[in-house]
Amino acid sequence: MNSISRAVHKPVLTLVALLFLLGGCIQQASQQEEFRLPISINEAMASLINHSADPIWVAAWKNSRSDEDWRELEHLARQLQVGGALITIPGTGPVYTMWTGRTEWVEYAEELSAAAGRAVNAARSKDVELIARAGELS
Ligand code: HEM
Repeated sequence: MNSISRAVHKPVLTLVALLFLLGGCIQQASQQEEFRLPISINEAMASLINHSADPIWVAAWKNSRSDEDWRELEHLARQLQVGGALITIPGTGPVYTMWTGRTEWVEYAEELSAAAGRAVNAARSKDVELIARAGELS
């Protein structure tokens, strides 16, 4: 390669590399913007949050429980914990972006995850008293 062709090639290659990097960044940003749950918040509430929370409420006043029951409660509490994080992501329908974009919404969802985290610990220690107190505000 002579010096003229080298002088032309270097800036061209640098430009191509920069465009490549920029393309990657733009693609990543648009992927983040578009990420949504494949279901509505209402469906997440009914199928995930409420479905896992109900047996935890019941457990607070039901006394005799086998090891298997406690393991099931731990799984349900984990589902509730991750459910709290999931409802901070918009679901299907335009209105959900408005909800999930609110600070109070995210704070309520975080409270829910924190309470569920306490329920996980209570189930691991097989402690009915702690299960009952898991929902108290931290
Ligand atoms: C253990 C805690 C919770 C339980 C048991 C629960 C349960 C439910 C249930 C049963 C529904 C009705 C679903 C239906 O229409 O069939 C619902 C709806 C709803 N929940 Fe929750 N929820 C909880 C926590 C939260 C939190 C933390 C938020 C906000 C961050 C929230 C926001 C909403 C909203 C906005 C709706 C209406 C959704 C719609 O109509 O599209 N919930 N929830």
